[in-house]
Amino acid sequence: MKQIVIDGGKTLKGTIKVSGAKNSAVALIPAALLSSGIVKIDNIPDISDVKALEDILTFLGAKVKHEGNLMEIDSSNVVSKEIPRELSNKLRASYYFMSALLGRFKDVTMYFPGGCSIGARPIDQTLKGYRALGANVTEVEDKVTVKASKLKGDDIYLDMPSVGATINILLSACISEGVTVIHNAAKEPEIVNVATFLNNMGAKIKGAGTSVVTITGVDKLGSCFTEVIPDRIEAGTYIVAGALCGDKLRVENLIPKHIDAFLSKLDEMGVELEVGTDYVVVSKTPCIKPVNIKTLGYPGFATDLQQPITPLLCTCEGVSKLEETIYENRYKNIPELEKMGASVETITNRIIKIHGPIEFKGANVSATDLRAGACLVLAGLAAKGKTTIDNVEYILRGYENIIGKLTDVGASISLIDN
Ligand code: EPU
Repeated sequence: MKQIVIDGGKTLKGTIKVSGAKNSAVALIPAALLSSGIVKIDNIPDISDVKALEDILTFLGAKVKHEGNLMEIDSSNVVSKEIPRELSNKLRASYYFMSALLGRFKDVTMYFPGGCSIGARPIDQTLKGYRALGANVTEVEDKVTVKASKLKGDDIYLDMPSVGATINILLSACISEGVTVIHNAAKEPEIVNVATFLNNMGAKIKGAGTSVVTITGVDKLGSCFTEVIPDRIEAGTYIVAGALCGDKLRVENLIPKHIDAFLSKLDEMGVELEVGTDYVVVSKTPCIKPVNIKTLGYPGFATDLQQPITPLLCTCEGVSKLEETIYENRYKNIPELEKMGASVETITNRIIKIHGPIEFKGANVSATDLRAGACLVLAGLAAKGKTTIDNVEYILRGYENIIGKLTDVGASISLIDN
């Protein structure tokens, strides 16, 4: 069993470079299957979710060369076959393979995807999209079979701006007849990254990044090169580390615009912050003010930064309010944070109040999901004494070299294997 051990209270100084975005990479890799040639993707983060996708690519018959952060995928010999449950259950993004295989072969059977347990996470909007494109969708127990003689464009109205459904519809509708229009599409930067990749392969997608995305079907997609955008959630996580323990900690290789809502909250708190073109410099600031935060789809405050910002709210002078509107079960970090001294009042399963300021003390805690794990690492960095975190596999799914990056700026943190 792997654990992260942190001896807290160290000042963080120096530079952290942000890696490629997990939530882009996990969509770009399956999207590569739509090409009948070779695609190259650079800036792929070295995280366990990418390894899990690589295993699926290989299982489906793709040839993968992965050196450093560059991945070359040759999908010319790929076939559509059922991905074993133990491979597809590992992560949410495995369902992007379902859409890519449907788009290319018009016939796919897959288990429902896995992913962090932070809410129900149904896939009804994706299945609705497949049906709108003319596919026949059959659900039997935990498996879905989707077949079509051909896919034909249509108007699709999403009930909510779902990131997954928007990407799934993009992937399944690129190689089709006619025009597909996604209304109420999600606007996250990762969607723009995927659409640009597909357009580089020869797709005709317009409007990605807005709430109406139009896809004009083409016959086939070819070779291309693309780059994964910087991980805005990793960037935000390290910026919180700087706000808790930094002395001019520089977080670089990010697109500040992608975390505008987050940065404006830090500004409202009074955190000492310099925002440059592709970097942020941040320091621990005395007497920061409490704020209210409501998570929303992009460009609102990202739900994935809700748990990482919580330790900072604990250090504010007064009561902050958090409202989680995307997931119904994204406060599993709170009981763990309370072991470290946090004072939290639960109003509903969506709304909590955080009473500050408190000083964190080291404790034995457990990560319940990826961002809950990030939250505990951040509290551990700020805490007096030793923090031991269990279930760190969650954290390693989404943060490239988190131990090395934090050690390099002065943290005392290690990964141990018991
Ligand atoms: N929803 C439905 N039906 C659907 C699809 C979504 O009811 O068919 C609901 C979900 O249950 C959820 C909300 O709509 O309550 C938003 O879900 P969305 O589809 O937007 O999320 P996702 O695609 O499953 C991605 C990221 C998440 C991130 C969300 C929101 C990946 C692999 N995952 O999930 O990332 O929280 O978008 O931004 O891209 C993380 O990185 O820690 C993480 C959980």
